[in-house]
Amino acid sequence: MSLATIKPAAADSWRIFDRIAPRYDLLNRLLSFRRDVAWRRALVRALPAGDSLRVLDLATGTADVLISLTSARGKIARGVGLDKSAGMIARGKDKIARAGGSAALSLVRGDACGIGFRDESFDAVSMAFGIRNVPDVPAALREIHRVIRSGGRALILEFSLPRNAILRAGYLLYFRHVLPRVGGLVSGDAQAYKYLNESVEAFPRGEGFLALMRDAGFRNSTATPLSFGIASLYVGEK
Ligand SMILES: C[S@@+](CC[C@H](N)C(=O)[O-])C[C@H]1O[C@@H](n2cnc3c(N)ncnc32)[C@H](O)[C@@H]1O
Repeated sequence: MSLATIKPAAADSWRIFDRIAPRYDLLNRLLSFRRDVAWRRALVRALPAGDSLRVLDLATGTADVLISLTSARGKIARGVGLDKSAGMIARGKDKIARAGGSAALSLVRGDACGIGFRDESFDAVSMAFGIRNVPDVPAALREIHRVIRSGGRALILEFSLPRNAILRAGYLLYFRHVLPRVGGLVSGDAQAYKYLNESVEAFPRGEGFLALMRDAGFRNSTATPLSFGIASLYVGEK
């Protein structure tokens, strides 16, 4: 039995991202003070050993993880990004083209709770700030486990909260009161950035999320707090 209780995201939460896609990257950099770039780099460093890896990036959005993966030169033979939002994928395709394109990278529309790839097709599956947005988290984790080859890895980045009480109190002031206002003003969608802090605060973190990974079949799972615990990198092996 899992330790975590989850309030499921609405089945159409991805539609929020269709609406904010044009301002999504700008707001990520602004609201995280560019820490999001460092968090994705930490994910890339946790790739499994070996070269010519096949990587699936779920909830790929505007393809920032895929683009970061290309910095691990020689390691990636194939990178597939999957997302439900056509708006986010369109921006991701533009960014990959502007970065010079890459035959190794492709983007597809799909659902993380029912991945249209065969069992054991990938050496690693990544998901950055996506798992909190799917309507059935255990189903998505089981799907991730299914499509990873034996010995491969899941790399999941998600927001968490600082464990230190003083840092946490200061961060929650920013997260609950400043971030939704700035996000709402810049994106023109106040609801989207209210959704961010509400969904993060309700989502399991640390040991709670590791329990869900164990339930899905992952072993040796670890949680690494990043930027004092504002985000966490979860790594699990199949
Ligand atoms: C916060 S964004 C993260 C984007 C990107 N990974 C990043 O690091 O910037 C969350 C993404 O999850 C996608 N999403 C939500 N539900 C999904 C689902 N069931 N299957 C696939 N993608 C989904 C949204 O469309 C959105 O692009």
